[in-house]
Amino acid sequence: MESRAVRSYKLRGRRITEGQQEAWDRLWPVFGIENSDQKIKLAELFPDSKRIIMEIGFGMGEATAQIALADPTTGYLAVEVHRPGIGKLLLRIEEGELKNLRTIEGDAFEVFEQMIVDSSLDGVHLFFPDPWPKARHFKRRIVNQEFIASVAAKLKPGAFLHIATDWQPYAQWIAEEFTKQRFFTGGEVQRPDWRPLTRFEDQGINKEHPVADFRFVKK
Ligand SMILES: C[S@@+](CC[C@H](N)C(=O)[O-])C[C@H]1O[C@@H](n2cnc3c(N)ncnc32)[C@H](O)[C@@H]1O
Repeated sequence: MESRAVRSYKLRGRRITEGQQEAWDRLWPVFGIENSDQKIKLAELFPDSKRIIMEIGFGMGEATAQIALADPTTGYLAVEVHRPGIGKLLLRIEEGELKNLRTIEGDAFEVFEQMIVDSSLDGVHLFFPDPWPKARHFKRRIVNQEFIASVAAKLKPGAFLHIATDWQPYAQWIAEEFTKQRFFTGGEVQRPDWRPLTRFEDQGINKEHPVADFRFVKK
């Protein structure tokens, strides 16, 4: 896949230990989906699922696995670029015997464009996207007009995009970006019961960062 000029992430610590490599070699072929330009056949991947939700940037995947465990009739597709995090999620899938969770290694923008059929998803989760606090990095924030349009294209009408952030200026940025688009209705909401604490959120709470949740519904 071609890589994008401006990326919303910085690849960090891609090295994995021997034990992690062993787990990767064993589990990736079972629970991983190769990044390709072929559209994923979601109904074949999750034959028993009533709905399909994609999570973008799951980090170490603790919330991802908990959500999938709590909601076995939904199929979860989890996308991340951080290889050690994917390795960790593969282990969580094995440990929890989760039949409704699969992972893709790749940039969500490319995965959307190349691997996801239009109007096929019931929801997208974006929890604690990298805040990119410096003005010169604002262009790297994943929530922008291109992102909103590409999520909108992949969601069914009535499907949702849930975003959480603990970075107040990013919360304002998100609210503003959504005033400029025409695909979604919605805005800030109370923290939903189904969203477990993520590792990144926990670190933010320790720094007394208030958390904002947003729910947008595709028109
Ligand atoms: C700040 S971390 C939050 C991780 C996790 N959601 C949490 O709350 O603990 C943001 C994650 O998004 C991932 N990420 C950023 N841009 C991405 C993209 N375009 N596609 C896939 N993952 C991305 C990063 O690698 C990173 O792991």
